[in-house]
Amino acid sequence: MCQCGSIVNTLFAPYQPDAHGVPLPDVVIRTASREDLPSTAALAAHREGGELAEWAAIHGRQFDDEKRCLLVAVHHGKVIGYAWLAWLTPVAHGGRNAPDGWYLSGVVVHPEYRRRGIGRRLTQARVDWVLEREPFAHYVVSASNRASRTLHAQLGFVEVAHEDFVVPGVVFTNHDGILCRLGARPDADVIDLASRRP
Ligand SMILES: CC(C)(COP(=O)(O)OP(=O)(O)OC[C@H]1O[C@@H](n2cnc3c(N)ncnc32)[C@H](O)[C@@H]1OP(=O)(O)O)[C@@H](O)C(=O)NCCC(=O)NCCS
Repeated sequence: MCQCGSIVNTLFAPYQPDAHGVPLPDVVIRTASREDLPSTAALAAHREGGELAEWAAIHGRQFDDEKRCLLVAVHHGKVIGYAWLAWLTPVAHGGRNAPDGWYLSGVVVHPEYRRRGIGRRLTQARVDWVLEREPFAHYVVSASNRASRTLHAQLGFVEVAHEDFVVPGVVFTNHDGILCRLGARPDADVIDLASRRP
């Protein structure tokens, strides 16, 4: 889920479909600890502006929320990306047409480390985490964030609703939100049918 506001487009990576990078070795993806929060706050402040202390407080509150989970990407001891998961109950909180469930709720990779496979690994790790617990993982994205949409589509997310949904706390200034879903074993039906063939 993107934290989308009035300056959304400057927050997104430019869409560059032909600029493939080389995977960065020696990157560890792990669950964050409290000691990582100054680094994740710095990445957020670098991306969105605002005071470091403010971001540290926001991340601290989210970190203490048992319905959220934070992963970090670490390269040689340096946090170069982070990604949130959140258990959301949109309709119970005034939303519409969005199911309860685990939502991928924000992934950020430091600009100097992009197109090195970090975002994909942070996302795959969260998908694996969710699908061990629930049949579906969800995420919402602005239609204009084509980099993020491409990344998530490659991992198997499908777009299930355009605009006609509301997740409280997420604002799409251009009314261009997309709700996406990824199910466990998307090939299950195919396998079942195939196994019944004579
Ligand atoms: C979106 C973001 C997390 C991607 O992180 P990343 O580490 O650069 O992504 P990866 O290197 O793992 O990319 C995986 C694939 O996604 C696609 N992709 C990623 N960034 C892309 C871009 N800028 N343009 C086009 N395709 C892109 C590509 O298919 C890429 O594979 P390839 O490099 O082999 O072609 C990063 O650009 C970012 O932090 N953006 C700002 C925050 C943001 O928009 N977060 C998502 C909110 S929903």
